[in-house]
Amino acid sequence: MEKNKILITGGCGFIGSYVVSMLVNTPYKIFVLDNLSTGQKENIPLDRVSLTVCDIRSEEAYEYIKVLQPNYVIHLAAQIDVQTSMQEQPYDADINIMGTLNVIQACKDLPNFKKFVFASTAAVYGNNTDLPLTECSTTTPTSPYGQSKLVGEQYLALVHELYRLPYATLRFANVYGKKNHSANDVITNFWRRLVQDKSPEIFGTGNQTRDFIYVEDIARALIEAINVFPCGVYNISTNEQTSINKVLGIMNDLLGNDIPVKKLPERPGDILDSCLANDKFVKHTNWLPEETIHSGLVKTIIGTNNQLKVGVK
Ligand SMILES: NC(=O)c1ccc[n+]([C@@H]2O[C@H](COP(=O)([O-])OP(=O)(O)OC[C@H]3O[C@@H](n4cnc5c(N)ncnc54)[C@H](O)[C@@H]3O)[C@@H](O)[C@H]2O)c1
Repeated sequence: MEKNKILITGGCGFIGSYVVSMLVNTPYKIFVLDNLSTGQKENIPLDRVSLTVCDIRSEEAYEYIKVLQPNYVIHLAAQIDVQTSMQEQPYDADINIMGTLNVIQACKDLPNFKKFVFASTAAVYGNNTDLPLTECSTTTPTSPYGQSKLVGEQYLALVHELYRLPYATLRFANVYGKKNHSANDVITNFWRRLVQDKSPEIFGTGNQTRDFIYVEDIARALIEAINVFPCGVYNISTNEQTSINKVLGIMNDLLGNDIPVKKLPERPGDILDSCLANDKFVKHTNWLPEETIHSGLVKTIIGTNNQLKVGVK
């Protein structure tokens, strides 16, 4: 029997490379489509994966998918930087809306197509403070990035209604793990400064909380999602609030640091607390987050802090 084909767009990136490394030990035939704008081909085992370097917005990508006829698509390729989305809204929309639509259109009439898994984000909820947020909570994005992801979600749901394209949209909480040194999330920022013996910076009191989820738990959820029913939207999170101060305390312990914190004024627009309910995905799959914030930070930091020093000015 022919193996099922799975296409991962953005498979050379942070989350995608974990998905690929988990899938290489399964019976799927793995294909990656990536323009290498932020990802690197060294992130995936090229002897076991077929990589096509092209842009999700292109005619070439559309034709490639039509000819390949994957059974599953995990769509990760995106413009993911909130600041870039603020400064270059058309660019963000072009990739996250038009690029996503191009991939969806290519899949919509494929024979034996089984599931389109779309990587979305808690940013679609904006400043909604009605915690924990469920998939039914109001979506009011406060950034062009959150807006473009929400439009991508809505197109996918519409194509499902019109053409019965099977799909699952996963809204990720704050994903952390071993990222490249240019990443701009709170954990990478702490880490970058701590390994340079610089004071970590906290905006506001540090009592603000986030729902931090380790990248391997996200990658497992994306793979579980290819079999999830019913089609629809699912939060992927730990369902726990962890304060920024607690994260820094754990990182200080792991790195053996005691550098005084630099407190900066609260940033306008920053949300105070965030937490996503994951009950729906847990109910419909065998997935549970495995890592606590402590065990996830151990995996993130141990044996990898040298990598962050590379490229740090
Ligand atoms: N990292 C997070 O905290 C987080 C949180 C919520 C949602 N997400 C979503 O998860 C997905 C993966 O994020 P990531 O953190 O791995 O980002 P990443 O930037 O590391 O990976 C994105 C990958 O997509 C590729 N890519 C970008 N634009 C492309 C284009 N136009 N055509 C083809 N390939 C393109 C990049 O080269 C890269 O390999 C994204 O859709 C993102 O919105 C990430």
